[in-house]
Amino acid sequence: MKIAGRHTRSVFLDEQGRVSVFDQRVLPFEIREYPLIDLSSAHDAIMHMVVRGAPLIGITAAFGLALHMRDDPSDKSVFNAADFLKSARPTAVNLAWAVDLMVQHLMALDLNARHEAALERAWQLLEEDVAVNQAIGQLGLELIRKVCAHRGRCHILTHCNAGWLATGDWGTALAPIYMAHDEGLPVHVYADETRPRSQGSLLTAFELHEHGVPVEVIVDNAGGHLMQAGDIDMVIVGTDRVAANGDVANKIGTYLKALAAKDNNIPFYVACPLSTIDHEIKDGCRDIPIEERSQNEVLNAPVLSAGKFSWLPSATSGVGARNPGFDVTPARLVTAIITQKGIVPATTEAIAKLA
Ligand code: MRU
Repeated sequence: MKIAGRHTRSVFLDEQGRVSVFDQRVLPFEIREYPLIDLSSAHDAIMHMVVRGAPLIGITAAFGLALHMRDDPSDKSVFNAADFLKSARPTAVNLAWAVDLMVQHLMALDLNARHEAALERAWQLLEEDVAVNQAIGQLGLELIRKVCAHRGRCHILTHCNAGWLATGDWGTALAPIYMAHDEGLPVHVYADETRPRSQGSLLTAFELHEHGVPVEVIVDNAGGHLMQAGDIDMVIVGTDRVAANGDVANKIGTYLKALAAKDNNIPFYVACPLSTIDHEIKDGCRDIPIEERSQNEVLNAPVLSAGKFSWLPSATSGVGARNPGFDVTPARLVTAIITQKGIVPATTEAIAKLA
């Protein structure tokens, strides 16, 4: 998609030929490139949220492993690096998925071929992700077309950022929206602010606005009210992990939007690649690991001043805070899951068929 009218992908080569990503901690105020130079820079990028979003976390880890093969291509180093990368963030299953895929690929190769072959596989993974998101977009577009035909518009609520910045390109939840807009359909997006990291107001609003899609930011608690007022026609969100029973983990606050959507008879869609489905986890509400993040994110508000990112107090000093990064929406609240292989109900039977 585009930044300042220029087409770009989430991972690219910088002017010095280094594999790079955008530093999403300073977007949209600054377009800063972050080179992935080795294993630890890729690990840091994931852990400190230079990159975020389940598919992009996986792709970044794949590049981290590939770059590490230049430094030490031995089997032991592959396995150690894989564990290290997987430890960076716990909820998005795409991280382990991408790392395992790379390890399997590397194990079949001679040591001296590993660096180049792994880099090639990582670029391929990026391209595959883009193609998957285009397929998700085409399928989701059909849902938006139907709403527009029926209501003469489609007002969509989304939470966090599941756009191109969270993937190789296009996004998952946002791919159908970009395609609908490009087709001239009257789409309008309500982007939840998504405290505490504000991925909605900073990233979703930015990327949609750059593309010309009408978007309004709302505070996290406004969605229910707008649904009651008849201002929202559907909800589409991304996900970090779908369990075998159809339960869906996504950014904290998603569950409350799903409850409100159910109460207002508004369809609640989840868009994701098959790599986000974890067939090993049978009960998502019980077993999906939820990242507990620092209480500083709750007790402070982020500010970017003179190119430096810092936090300003936003709560009474001395109090503590809880900061779960994700929640799990039970399958019964999910209207359907939009994957590259079709739009399926969030049921054990339908999900098993995708394995
Ligand atoms: O903490 P983040 O910003 O990595 O959380 C991202 C989300 O919750 C996204 O909705 C999810 O990863 C899907 S991205 C296509």
